Amino acid sequence: MAGISKAFPGVQALQDVNFEMARGEIHALVGENGAGKSTLMKVLTGAHLPDAGQISWRGQPAAIHAPADAQALGIGMIHQELSLIPYLTVGQNIFLGREPRWKLPGFIDWKKLYAQTQDLLDRLNLDVNPRAEAQGLSIAQQQMVEVAKALSLNADLIAMDEPTSSLTDKETEVLFAMMRALKAQGVAIIFISHRLEEVFEISDRVTVLRDGRHIATRPTAELDHNKIVELMVGRELGDIYAYSPTEQRDVVLETADLSDGDELKGVSLQLRGGEILGLAGLIGAGRTALAETLFGIRPAAAGDIKLAGQPVKIRSPKQAIQHGLGFVPEDRKLQGLFLHMAVRENVLLSGMDLVATLGFINSGKANGLVQGFVDKLDIRTPSLQQEVRNLSGGNQQKVVIARWLALQPRVLILDEPTRGVDVGAKAEIHALMRQLAEEGVGILMISSELPEVLGVSDRILVMHEGRITGELTREEATQDKIMRAATGVVHHGI
Ligand SMILES: Nc1ncnc2c1ncn2[C@@H]1O[C@H](COP(=O)(O)OP(=O)(O)OP(=O)(O)O)[C@@H](O)[C@H]1O
Ligand SMILES: [Mg+2]
Repeated sequence: MAGISKAFPGVQALQDVNFEMARGEIHALVGENGAGKSTLMKVLTGAHLPDAGQISWRGQPAAIHAPADAQALGIGMIHQELSLIPYLTVGQNIFLGREPRWKLPGFIDWKKLYAQTQDLLDRLNLDVNPRAEAQGLSIAQQQMVEVAKALSLNADLIAMDEPTSSLTDKETEVLFAMMRALKAQGVAIIFISHRLEEVFEISDRVTVLRDGRHIATRPTAELDHNKIVELMVGRELGDIYAYSPTEQRDVVLETADLSDGDELKGVSLQLRGGEILGLAGLIGAGRTALAETLFGIRPAAAGDIKLAGQPVKIRSPKQAIQHGLGFVPEDRKLQGLFLHMAVRENVLLSGMDLVATLGFINSGKANGLVQGFVDKLDIRTPSLQQEVRNLSGGNQQKVVIARWLALQPRVLILDEPTRGVDVGAKAEIHALMRQLAEEGVGILMISSELPEVLGVSDRILVMHEGRITGELTREEATQDKIMRAATGVVHHGI
């Protein structure tokens, strides 16, 4: 790709960017939220037309005007925002538009389609029914199905836009093994990730973008963590989030034997004001089920919830919010954001039109409030009026967080709060969480990133198969102890 430029209203997303790939190379593309990574990949795969620049493929000028052109050349992409169609099955999603057919009379050969799907899923070690509807899958499973779909294209180049963002370490290892196998077959892979450890583990070269410009392309072996961060942010990053404990106050949230009759099998926990309680576990451990039950998204089948010592029944998110609970969900696209509305409305709306009081806030004050969060969280947007769908993935995530902060909850549940967020912004979000804790908010943080759990939490609970299998103080917690509890080895450290 040579001299690629692309502007959107108010934003120069790419400016004269050069980028090249070799056969069989795994090339990491890194940069802060909004640096232009996804846009560059969308230009490569025909989803965006560039304003200037050329693409060559195997030494020949390539005309890529639509996704089909890229596909025909053997260029595939896994999008950052999952794009499976909810009511189609896994197999239908993977083979959409290119279903295997009988020679005559041309009907879809379902048996073959599902057999091929099963093969792909087996290659990924993915325990998912090919006939299951996409909407029933967890986010991690959906992400793996996207990977399967890209593999099924037999592409020579696959652009993977944050494929690991909602995978746990174990699933990431499966994906990496797959990537190495593809590489050995000569397939070139572009890998976008905000987890720099992954970049070091898997990539041969790294390209850094900053503010839409190409900053550097280097062999990974010549870089280290600090060097990449410096190239990304254009300055040396000061102290990243430094842990300092907060004074612990009274218990703000307590559950006894809470179940949803399905994935959640009797959870008892206590959360204090001023405390950041980390909740670790593997995918499917029941962490999201716990959060959703607390927040009234799933009905509680048994057990009790107390807020500030008072027993409460929470039957809907509306009631949860009235009781002072906030919930930043894992899947910002489905539950978190109104993609077609402005940043301003997304911060001010409570999610389900729940807080009437915000309806008559005067607009100057409202703008001030929103601008405050935009500054604090460093949300990159040309204006408060920008539609959220036009923000980069990481900046969308920050908008969801801003909304819940605007509600000033007493208990804040954060499900993967920094997924897809760049290193600098991650530290800002962690610092903000600590600031809330200092104001007396109790924070329950679900995270699959162990360094995040270990770095931020005052105390750590580990879940496995719907139950709490470990409780660790900050001092005694290690990755190893968490992993053992997460795989069902009961460990009570306290
Ligand atoms: N369709 C669009 N309309 C308007 N602006 C857009 C559109 N797509 C991207 N942008 C803007 O272009 C810039 C680059 O966005 P891009 O999505 O490429 O960033 P990114 O590097 O992928 O970030 P992230 O790490 O958060 O995913 C951002 O400022 C973004 O707001
Ligand atoms: Mg992106």
